[in-house]
Amino acid sequence: MQAFDIEVTLGRTRVLHGVDFTAKPGQVTAIVGPNGSGKTTLLRATTGEIPFTGRVLLNGEDVARQKPWQLAAIRGVQPQSTTIAFPFTVVEIVRLGLTAGLSAANTDLPVRALEKVDLTGFENRMYQDLSGGEQQRVQLARVLTQIWQPMVDGTPRWLILDEPVASLDIGHQFTVMDLTRDFATRGGGVVAVMHDLNLTAMFADRVVLMQDGRIAAQGTPSEVLTDATLTQTYGCPIPVNTTPPVGMPFLLPQARMTREPC
Ligand SMILES: Nc1ncnc2c1ncn2[C@@H]1O[C@H](COP(=O)(O)OP(=O)(O)O)[C@@H](O)[C@H]1O
Ligand SMILES: [Mg+2]
Repeated sequence: MQAFDIEVTLGRTRVLHGVDFTAKPGQVTAIVGPNGSGKTTLLRATTGEIPFTGRVLLNGEDVARQKPWQLAAIRGVQPQSTTIAFPFTVVEIVRLGLTAGLSAANTDLPVRALEKVDLTGFENRMYQDLSGGEQQRVQLARVLTQIWQPMVDGTPRWLILDEPVASLDIGHQFTVMDLTRDFATRGGGVVAVMHDLNLTAMFADRVVLMQDGRIAAQGTPSEVLTDATLTQTYGCPIPVNTTPPVGMPFLLPQARMTREPC
C-alpha cells in the first residue's frame, strides 16, 4: 500500500496534512501516535471510507477507482469500534465476512475463524452479551472470514485493523498479534493501529509514527522507537532500552517508577 500526499478535512478542521506512507506485503506495519494524531482518519482514507485528496495505491491500483466489491475482495477492515443495533448471534456477525468477501456461502470459514480468535463454542451466543474484548475478537473473525487467504494467484490481500488489541488481555493480545504475523509471513499485508509500543516493537516490521496529522517518523521499530522521538511525540519521558540478545527496543516509562507526573 502506498499513500501519497493525503489530506483530509473533517467539518472545518484539517485533520491530515500531506501524509505519505508505505506498507509492504509480507510485513506488519504499525501506525502509532498520541490520541487524536490522525491514525483512524488515515486508515479510513486508505480504505476509501472518507473523502481525501492525494492518492492511495493498493497492489498498485488506485483505491479511488475500485468498486466496493473489488476492494472487499482484497482487503478487510476492522474498525476501532463497532455498534451492532440488532440482536445478532456471534456466528451471524462472522458470516457477514462471507458476503463481503464473495466467498462461497456454505464454507466452514466462520467456525474456523472463531477458532483462530479463541472463541470456539461462542457461535450461538448473542453478540451484545459478550465482553468488549470478546466482541473485538468476533469482529476480527469476521474480517478473517472475508480475507482468509493472504495471497490469491500471487496477489497479496490486506488486513487493515484499527486498535485490534485495545480491549484484550495479554494472552489474547498475543493470539491476535500472532495471527497478524502469520498472515504477513504467508505473503499478506497487515496495517494495524497500535497503542502498545512494546507489542509494536515485538511484532511490527515497520512503524509509522503520527503526530498532529503528520508523519513524525517511519521506519523499522529500532529506527522509530527511540527516546528522543517518543519523548518529543508523546510529551513525557520514555526511555527506550533494548533486549539482549536481539536488540529489540523495549520501553519502561520512567514516570511510573519515579512517581513523577508524566
Ligand atoms: N467528524 C469530525 N469532525 C471534526 N474533527 C474530527 C472528526 N473526526 C475526527 N476529528 C478530529 O480529527 C483528529 C484525528 O482523529 P482520529 O483520526 O480519530 O485520531 P486517532 O485515531 O489518532 O486517535 C482528532 O483531533 C479528532 O478530534
Ligand atoms: Mg483512532
